[in-house]
Amino acid sequence: MKPFPLIFSLLLTCVAGLAGQALAASQALESLRGTEAVPATEPPPAMRDFINDKENIPRTFEQQPPLVPHEVDKYTIDLKQNKCLECHMKQPGKDKARSVEMSEAHFMDRNGKKLDHPSGARHFCNQCHVPQVDAQPLIGSNFQSLPR
Ligand code: HEC
Ligand code: HEC
Repeated sequence: MKPFPLIFSLLLTCVAGLAGQALAASQALESLRGTEAVPATEPPPAMRDFINDKENIPRTFEQQPPLVPHEVDKYTIDLKQNKCLECHMKQPGKDKARSVEMSEAHFMDRNGKKLDHPSGARHFCNQCHVPQVDAQPLIGSNFQSLPR
């Protein structure tokens, strides 16, 4: 066999193999974006109203931080102050709005030791407590809460 046809047939095999792979890949993979062009954008969904009706959406699992049944934008939380504490501290008589007191867990350090002040780890309340909106899950879920 002359070397030229050998090299040529080897090359042909490689090219055919690559082409086959590319075809298979294009059939098997579909981008999450679908057929949408990359620069295409959609307008953002409208902002939802927070439910501010003093009724809490029920908790769905044990140890879930309750949702906040009132607005929160006015209550600053930063290094120096925490407006939430004005109502949610354990100070009988002080809170005219008669809001719910934070539980004991908010007055413990990470080793479970009791503190006489709210734990630093709980300073940023909205890390765990978010205002409630009537929003359906973006993706379906068959999660069921345990019966109480
Ligand atoms: C002016 C007083 C006041 C301030 C400030 C305040 N809250 Fe409240 N909060 C209440 C009252 C009163 C309730 C009880 C429900 C109601 O009457 O709206 C409540 C309820 C809650 C609940 C639900 C508790 C439960 O067991 O259902 C959470 C969580 C909460 N607040 C978190 C916060 C967070 C976080 C902040 C700061 C961003 C904050 N609150 C600031 C008065 C206040
Ligand atoms: C690390 C998460 C976390 C942070 C931060 C946090 N909480 Fe909570 N909170 C919880 C969980 C979990 C519960 C429910 C279990 C419990 O009561 O301990 C709860 C319960 C509560 C309740 C309801 C208590 C009751 O008896 O119904 C109030 C009120 C509350 N938190 C207020 C606050 C405030 C105000 C802050 C900020 C100073 C805060 N929380 C920070 C996790 C957190």
